[in-house]
Amino acid sequence: MQSETVPALDGLTIRAAGMGDLPVLAARDIDRLGQLYDRLERHEADRGELLIALIAGRPVGHIYLWREDAEEPELREHLPAVPLIMNLWVSDDHRRQGIGKELVARAEADLSGAGHREVALGVHPDNTDAIKLYLSLGYEQWGYGQIATCKEPARAGKERFANDICEIYVKRLNG
Ligand SMILES: CC(C)(COP(=O)(O)OP(=O)(O)OC[C@H]1O[C@@H](n2cnc3c(N)ncnc32)[C@H](O)[C@@H]1OP(=O)(O)O)[C@@H](O)C(=O)NCCC(=O)NCCS
Repeated sequence: MQSETVPALDGLTIRAAGMGDLPVLAARDIDRLGQLYDRLERHEADRGELLIALIAGRPVGHIYLWREDAEEPELREHLPAVPLIMNLWVSDDHRRQGIGKELVARAEADLSGAGHREVALGVHPDNTDAIKLYLSLGYEQWGYGQIATCKEPARAGKERFANDICEIYVKRLNG
């Protein structure tokens, strides 16, 4: 599934990312370099999709669509084959301009276009800004409580810890 470039808010473009975007993406979001590299690798292998938002050619945000089986057993049990959106991020100087909403809307449109009827996401219970955004877009808590997830991408020989607590939200997608 590859997104086409579509203009969103005035001056904002959202398009599928490529490995060539990594240096600029990492420059804006250096704490997430390893995670972004992992997402780009999955994207290039057609296992998911990394979308980036640009203004005047400069990345100002991103979101990842996880289309593989979930890593967390609770998600595989209660939401089998439901894709996840994750790694939503908007640069500090561009927040509260609707870019986060646009990124989520675009992710949903791509998933809906690919035939998915539901989408899920995990968010830390203290992340009230993000939760407000998701609630405003019609996401609802899934009802099975919080789960522990791994923030770090899986890497051969590297131990991972599921220590990131998440609340799971779900939304039905209109086909
Ligand atoms: C969460 C995040 C992606 C929101 O991006 P954004 O582009 O600022 O969001 P939007 O402008 O589309 O906001 C949409 C709605 O979400 C809510 N919202 C977003 N940020 C908010 C804030 N700081 N305070 C209160 N409400 C907020 C509001 O309801 C807002 O609508 P409004 O501006 O009309 O009131 C951004 O703050 C971010 O990158 N945070 C750090 C990374 C992160 O937490 N990602 C989410 C991981 S689950």
